[in-house]
Amino acid sequence: MAIRDILVYPDKRLRQRARPVTEFDQELKTLVADMAETMYAAPGIGLAAVQVNVPLRVIVMDLTEEKDDLLVFVNPEIKPLEGTRECEEGCLSVPGIFAPVERAERVHVRAMNVDGEPFEFEADGLLSICIQHEVDHLDGKVFVDYLSRMKQYRVRKKLLKEQKQAQAA
Ligand code: NI
Repeated sequence: MAIRDILVYPDKRLRQRARPVTEFDQELKTLVADMAETMYAAPGIGLAAVQVNVPLRVIVMDLTEEKDDLLVFVNPEIKPLEGTRECEEGCLSVPGIFAPVERAERVHVRAMNVDGEPFEFEADGLLSICIQHEVDHLDGKVFVDYLSRMKQYRVRKKLLKEQKQAQAA
């Protein structure tokens, strides 16, 4: 296992549209293990493969406080159900920025596990919000896209400045 580099907004590679996984092989298992290690080390509660510059439809999540319940979604598809809900979001690719985003309150989720076995369920609460956030990454979207133009500009400016300072150091 290895910790991979997480792309930081406004890196253009975050705009890649991920393609479906077709090979459920050792390479996929290694990717999932690396993504989990990267997410736990960050630390974060969710990570999409696009964020580590792998344009495949793979998500890892762990919403528990104990960090002992890894969720893996391969080729996830979500369908919004009734209701909307506004929730403060953050993202490992947008460090230090938190802002409210409105999303579907509940979603129906279909996905596969790392062995290609399909499963489906209805998600609500934090799980629903988090899945919608991560599936957005697979479509090249970041939660900042939902904010006002002015706020997007400020986020971009702040993170570019931080990246420049980090490079200089
Ligand atoms: Ni994110």
